[in-house]
Amino acid sequence: MAAARGSLAGKVALITGASSGIGAATALLFSKLGAGLALAGRNAQNLEKIGHSCFQASGVKPVLLTGDLTKDEDTKRIFQGTLDGHGGKLDILVNNAGIIALGGIQKATLEQYDRLMNTNVRSMFHLTQLAVPYLIETKGNIVNVSSINGLRAFAGVLTYSISKHAIDAFTRCVALDLADKQVRVNCVNPGVTHTELHKRAGLNDKEYEAYLKRARYTHALGRHGEPQEVADCIAFLVSDQASFITGACIPVDGGRHALCPSSLSREEGGVSAMSQGVDV
Ligand SMILES: NC(=O)c1ccc[n+]([C@@H]2O[C@H](COP(=O)([O-])OP(=O)(O)OC[C@H]3O[C@@H](n4cnc5c(N)ncnc54)[C@H](OP(=O)(O)O)[C@@H]3O)[C@@H](O)[C@H]2O)c1
Repeated sequence: MAAARGSLAGKVALITGASSGIGAATALLFSKLGAGLALAGRNAQNLEKIGHSCFQASGVKPVLLTGDLTKDEDTKRIFQGTLDGHGGKLDILVNNAGIIALGGIQKATLEQYDRLMNTNVRSMFHLTQLAVPYLIETKGNIVNVSSINGLRAFAGVLTYSISKHAIDAFTRCVALDLADKQVRVNCVNPGVTHTELHKRAGLNDKEYEAYLKRARYTHALGRHGEPQEVADCIAFLVSDQASFITGACIPVDGGRHALCPSSLSREEGGVSAMSQGVDV
C-alpha cells in the first residue's frame, strides 16, 4: 500500500534543538508521521521528556543525543550517534538549534558575534557537511530554521540578524550544490513564535509578555505563532509532497514579511519590536 501523503514512515531524521520550542514540536510531529528519530539538545532532562512524548505518540523510542553544537567533538559524536542508532542511514536533517542576543552596532560585542555565529551558523555548516554523504545516498533533504530576521532588517538584534541572513544564503547555495544529487535544501523563516528563545536572551516574563502582545501590530494576522505552526511547515518541506521545492526560504510569520514597516509607529514595534522597552 502506498504511504499516506506527508507520511515520514521509513525515514530517519536528525533534529537539533529538539529539547525545546520549535525543535520539540517538530520532533513530536515527525514521530506521529512515522519517522525514526535522533533528537539532539544540551538539556538532557528536557530531551528525555520530549523523547518520552514521542514514544507515547508513536510507540518508537527516539535516539537521544546530548551535546553542545559549538564544540566540534560534540557535533561529531551527535552525528555518529544518529548513524549508530539508525543502521547508518539518514534521510532528513533539521538544523534548528539556535540562540538570539540583544544589541545593535553600538552594543553588540565581538564575543557576542562569535557566540551567535558559532551557534547559529558554524554548527549548521559542520553538521551539514557530516550529513551530506548520507543524504546523497538516500536522496534525502535538509530544512534549516532561519527567521524573519533573515529576510528583513531589524534594529537592535544585529548579530542574530547577520546569522539568519547567513543561514538563508547557506540554504540557497547548498541547495544548488546538491541539486544534481537530488538532495533538497530549504529553510523556514518564522516570525515571533512562543518558545524559550527570547527569555534566554534576557527578556523577563513581563517584557516577554509585552513582546508577544506586540505581535498584534507586527504580524499581519495580528498574533504571534506557536511552535506547532512552524513544525507543520517543516514536516511539509521534508515530505515527498515538497518534491519540487529546493532553495526556498519560506516565511512562517503571520504575514510579517509582507508588512510595510513605515505603517507602524515605533511604539507599535515598527522599528524593532524586540528592543522596545529593553536596553539594547
Ligand atoms: N521563537 C521565535 O520567535 C523564533 C523566531 C524565528 C526563528 N526562531 C529560530 O527557531 C530555532 C529554535 O528556537 P526556539 O524558538 O525553539 O528556541 P528555544 O526554545 O530556546 O530552543 C532552542 C533550542 O536550541 C538548542 N541549542 C541552543 N544552543 C545550542 C548549542 N550550543 N548546542 C546545542 N543545542 C543548542 C537548545 O538546547 P537546550 O535547550 O537543550 O540547551 C534548544 O533545544 C532557532 O534557530 C531560532 O533562531 C525562533
